[in-house]
Amino acid sequence: MNTAPLCHPAWLSAEALPAPASTPAANAQAEADAFFRGAQRRPSLTLDASLGEGYRIDPTPDGWSVTGGEAGLLYGVHALIRALRSKSDIPGGLQKPRYPLRMLNCWDNMDGTIERGYAGRSLWFEGGEFSYDPERIRRLGRMLASVGINVLCVNNVNVHAAARELIGSRLPELAAFADLLRPFAVRLMVSIDFSMPMQEGLPTADPLNPAVAAWWAERVKTVYEAIPDFAGFLVKADSEHRPGPNTYGRTHAEGANMLARALAPCSGVLVWRAFVYNCMQDWRDASIDRPCAAYNVYQPLDGQFDPNVILQVKYGPYDFQPEEPVSPLFFAMPRTRVALEVQLAQEYTGQQIDIFAMPPVWRPMIDDIGAERLAAVAAVSNLGRDANWTGHPFAQLNLYAFGRFAWSPDAEPERVIREWARLTYALPARQEDALVRLLMESHAVYRRYTSPLGLCWMVSPNHHYGPSPYGYEFMAWGTYNRANRYAVGIDRTAGGTGYVTQYPEALRRRYERPETCPEELLLFFHRLPYGWRMRDGRTLIQRIYDDHFLGAEETEAMRRTLEELDFPAEDRQVILERMDRQVEDAREWRDVVNTFFFRFSGEPDADGRKIYP
Ligand code: GCU
Repeated sequence: MNTAPLCHPAWLSAEALPAPASTPAANAQAEADAFFRGAQRRPSLTLDASLGEGYRIDPTPDGWSVTGGEAGLLYGVHALIRALRSKSDIPGGLQKPRYPLRMLNCWDNMDGTIERGYAGRSLWFEGGEFSYDPERIRRLGRMLASVGINVLCVNNVNVHAAARELIGSRLPELAAFADLLRPFAVRLMVSIDFSMPMQEGLPTADPLNPAVAAWWAERVKTVYEAIPDFAGFLVKADSEHRPGPNTYGRTHAEGANMLARALAPCSGVLVWRAFVYNCMQDWRDASIDRPCAAYNVYQPLDGQFDPNVILQVKYGPYDFQPEEPVSPLFFAMPRTRVALEVQLAQEYTGQQIDIFAMPPVWRPMIDDIGAERLAAVAAVSNLGRDANWTGHPFAQLNLYAFGRFAWSPDAEPERVIREWARLTYALPARQEDALVRLLMESHAVYRRYTSPLGLCWMVSPNHHYGPSPYGYEFMAWGTYNRANRYAVGIDRTAGGTGYVTQYPEALRRRYERPETCPEELLLFFHRLPYGWRMRDGRTLIQRIYDDHFLGAEETEAMRRTLEELDFPAEDRQVILERMDRQVEDAREWRDVVNTFFFRFSGEPDADGRKIYP
């Protein structure tokens, strides 16, 4: 049994913990009763099932009327409380989420570890079984509902043996867990292993074999008998050694459709990840370019997926790097339902030690993709059993903001950050401004002192933390900077690997010439000499040095800012202790990256700053 202490209230008011309720609408009432206890102006709640997840809030002489569907009422009450607590406008008119599925993918293993987890152990697994504090899971449900996240995938996409039992012998435990989250309008999803029928005695998992299809149909039926509102399956197949349809000479569409047809009678969805590439590449072979892979596999399959299949695409063509262009796959699948996948877990963005607030990164990403191209959104969770949920208290912002962007992809980064800061810390105005500015800039600072200008992968291959410019260079993962004494980067233009030709015209034109390519992505798309002139006249090598000196200095300024802000004592200690590590890490990144390029280029720093020869 997990006996973690009850924890930091996140962005919700701690005083007003409502009693457990059995339905989302009852929860909405309990939430309202708790928050408005003794208040003069109170909301009155009306259930209108036809509104589903939607709600409307109207002023009345003695408060507000909140009308909504079962889940909508709960979202409406949270919206009202959020507006009052953050002193912002109460949303007017009918409010509805942009996407029906707003999914949190948890990479939790049944042994209690979390793949790429930076906030402690799993909140619900330990020792090969479900093990949790129900009160904490209710708090989790409340957090998710307060920002409209409505699907929780409970287990790692890399499905280890024990997790297969989730839809087998452990189904009653899964159902009990679903019962806890249902009053928060959160439905469960499970990651499945494509080869599972074979573990249970079938000679094959070939998706076109009728016995295999029948096995899955039967299994799905059992799951829905136990959990009637089960959301569906998430699948990582034929990727990084996971089993999949390719083993049987079948396509990803054939594999996905077989599972989707098993789920369809129960209205379940099949979320199929597009994270597929050759992870056994020979680094000597420069003709294979990993960012090209997903498009090459999936684009020819557009139009072949069943309507209840969702293809889940990571935002960039690599793998959650700090700076990537959007994946060209978003534009290549007009006849397929596509979901955007972002990663709240800060695998490559500072591991919840360094500060990396994501909303300013998501805004241009969603604008580039076009919100209307998406059918759903998903995020890899950054949660764990740490008392503050996310290791770094500021990492809660990314979960909060994901919910807000999933509800409304037009969200303004600064507004969302300010809202979260106000709800979480209620600082005096000048301090709040300083915190918002620091968070708005944090991604740019991090990018300056880590891998330069979209080059990617200069990170330690063991833990994905800390600088290692050669760490991924001679590996099988397709992760190269190909720096030598003359130049750095990979030519991904039509004359190079051709990657840029996967984009529609406007984006292709933006990226294909170094003169027009956004400088932050220059080394993602181009191979350039160190003397290349940047738009402000500096050389490329000087820009790399300057960015790294500046980024490291900026972390020291961040430290000084944070020290002056009145955080609650328990947060202050964690924030400053982690900031000290970030300052130290930025210094290490600066010196390693600058030295690496100095040794190749032989170019001294124009300002005579210290580089280690
Ligand atoms: C990254 C990550 C893996 C994860 C994979 C995925 O490569 O390092 O741990 O399994 O993404 O998204 O499936």
